[in-house]
Amino acid sequence: MTKATVLTGITTTGTPHLGNYVGAIRPAIAASKDANVSPFYFLADYHALIKCQDPEKVRQSSLEIAATWLALGLDTSNAVFYRQSDVPEITELAWMLTCVTAKGLMNRAHAYKAAVAENEQGGENDPDKGITMGLFSYPILMAADILIFNAHKVPVGKDQIQHIEMARDIAGRFNHIYGEHFVIPDAVVTENAATLAGLDGRKMSKSYNNTIPLFEPEKKLRKLINKIKTNSLEPGEPKDPDGCTLFGIYQAFARPSEVDEVRKLYAEGIAWGEMKKLLFEYINDHIAPARERYEALLEAPEHIENELQEGAKKAREISVPFMKQLREAVGISRIGV
Ligand code: TRP
Repeated sequence: MTKATVLTGITTTGTPHLGNYVGAIRPAIAASKDANVSPFYFLADYHALIKCQDPEKVRQSSLEIAATWLALGLDTSNAVFYRQSDVPEITELAWMLTCVTAKGLMNRAHAYKAAVAENEQGGENDPDKGITMGLFSYPILMAADILIFNAHKVPVGKDQIQHIEMARDIAGRFNHIYGEHFVIPDAVVTENAATLAGLDGRKMSKSYNNTIPLFEPEKKLRKLINKIKTNSLEPGEPKDPDGCTLFGIYQAFARPSEVDEVRKLYAEGIAWGEMKKLLFEYINDHIAPARERYEALLEAPEHIENELQEGAKKAREISVPFMKQLREAVGISRIGV
């Protein structure tokens, strides 16, 4: 039986934080070890250009994300780990798909609609002000990412479900016109994916500027944890763990029995300072070995590059012949051969 291909992309903007780790990276790394599936994980660097036009930031983020995944033990003997831009068949396919995608379908994309709504609310005359074709047609590039490897399953957050539906729609359209070339992918949404609150109590997110970077050096990690907002209950007063940012983070890392212990400490009125100390020590111990590997990888970026080149090689063993097939299917081939 052929294994199911599970594929997901990581846009290379920003530095991975604790929220990314528990919500997406940790489950993906665990899945990379499953010998019953064929995982494809890639750095979506062409997607990064949609959001970020600062070359140094894009470069730095690619480096940090690749180093993070490798430091956390991504199994690259089972998973294909590559950089989108190293597989040019993806962008080539994106054009073929662009030519079968209805513009009306893209008009309905949430990200595009939100950008238009923002312009309209801001009293802007031009509803498309500041919206690039990259943002508008981004679901097509994402469809190409998925379809080039005929992925069966695509683990994504809820905000991405619509994009997978669009990829299905586009694949169906292409298959209808040119024959059955593409597998129709399914979204895999982890309903109970852990989400963490950030420093200010809102969801931890780069856009709120409230994140705790995953591999922050020890001293800085302590400082950031001390900055997490709490209420003003005094030491000795019983506290509610549910909805508490500190407790939520602890819970995402600790074993159930340890979580129960800390629940008791809340009922007994643990001081916020104490809880912050406990949380810092727990997280720091948990992260220290991977953080050391991360720092070592950043010192030896050629090792990261080698891994990505190996990954691209494996990926292109599939994408190059598939692209040849697709070119022929649409009528692009050499004359007389
Ligand atoms: N758009 C996804 C995100 O922002 C990242 C991504 C790019 C992706 N290409 C993909 C995810 C293909 C799954 C499959 O999270």
